[in-house]
Amino acid sequence: QYGTDEYNHESNLKYIQIRNYRIETWYTAPFPEQFNSVPILYICENCLEYMDSKRVLKGHQAKCRVRAPPGLEIYREGLNSIFEVDGLRNSSYCRNLCLIAKLFLNSKTLFYDVDPFMFYVLTEYDPAKQKHHFVGYFSKEKVNNNNYNVSCILTLPIYQRKGYGNLLIDFSYLLSQREYKSGTPEKPLSDLGAVSYRNYWKVKMAYLLRRLATTKQPKSITTIQLCKLTGMIENDVIVGLEQCQALLRDFTNGQYLIFYNRPVIEVIIMKWESKNYTTLNPKSLFWKPVL
Ligand code: ACO
Ligand code: ZN
Repeated sequence: QYGTDEYNHESNLKYIQIRNYRIETWYTAPFPEQFNSVPILYICENCLEYMDSKRVLKGHQAKCRVRAPPGLEIYREGLNSIFEVDGLRNSSYCRNLCLIAKLFLNSKTLFYDVDPFMFYVLTEYDPAKQKHHFVGYFSKEKVNNNNYNVSCILTLPIYQRKGYGNLLIDFSYLLSQREYKSGTPEKPLSDLGAVSYRNYWKVKMAYLLRRLATTKQPKSITTIQLCKLTGMIENDVIVGLEQCQALLRDFTNGQYLIFYNRPVIEVIIMKWESKNYTTLNPKSLFWKPVL
């Protein structure tokens, strides 16, 4: 878990400005004390440095040569890329990332020690400007004894409700699968985290059951097999199956049977696809787990 930290709630911060967007903040974050009186923080979206005035930002941008997040680009599909950034090697970037995320997270725990984490940063490429725009990220502990595959996830509010959170979540499970592991997000989830994950588990199970129904007898499948096929832990698989109305209790032995409730599943998939959100292409990930 992240280390806790005392910070000043006296902050006057109301907005962050990134590019031409002025984004209202939701919670406070422990920026250095000299920023307490500042109502708007100006952020360089390339290196994520924060400044107290437009003038200072202008000066910074004249010098800042960063065009993309640091680290390795491990995924690219269309205009979207995901960069793997090591908290140890890029501590300043990652600390800034955590501070920005804190502005949209209600949790009390804070993020100073970024060394034990990897950060997966999602961008949208702007061909006209030839640069990557920061969209969101999630952090993940490099080593942990539990099965957490996401520590903290954020979509910048100007990019929310476009399916990017879902893309990041899907990506986190793809990493788990490549590690031959089952993962789950670190608890407690925020309200928005909970609705996003519940939706993800539901949609994932809907697609999987539909695929399996055309190849196998769905009743012969077990939740453990579904975990292997998705990188999800059993508990989350069950939350997904329940929403697909795909669980039947076998009263002879108290076990659950999984069945394919076609009408329910078709509606879930249809609704989801009507949004036309970007989907993950596993073939576009070039990555091997560090052992
Ligand atoms: N209201 C209702 N449903 C929502 C909402 C919302 N505000 N946000 C997401 N959902 C659900 C919906 O089902 C949505 O599908 P829909 O748009 O078709 O209705 C689905 O999740 C997918 O939404 P995305 O667009 O993929 O999610 P988004 O990019 O907006 O990111 C996230 C979700 C990351 C949780 C974002 O809201 C955020 O950054 N919140 C602030 C930080 C936060 O709370 N992070 C999670 C903390 S828990 C943890 O880190 C493990
Ligand atoms: Zn910069």
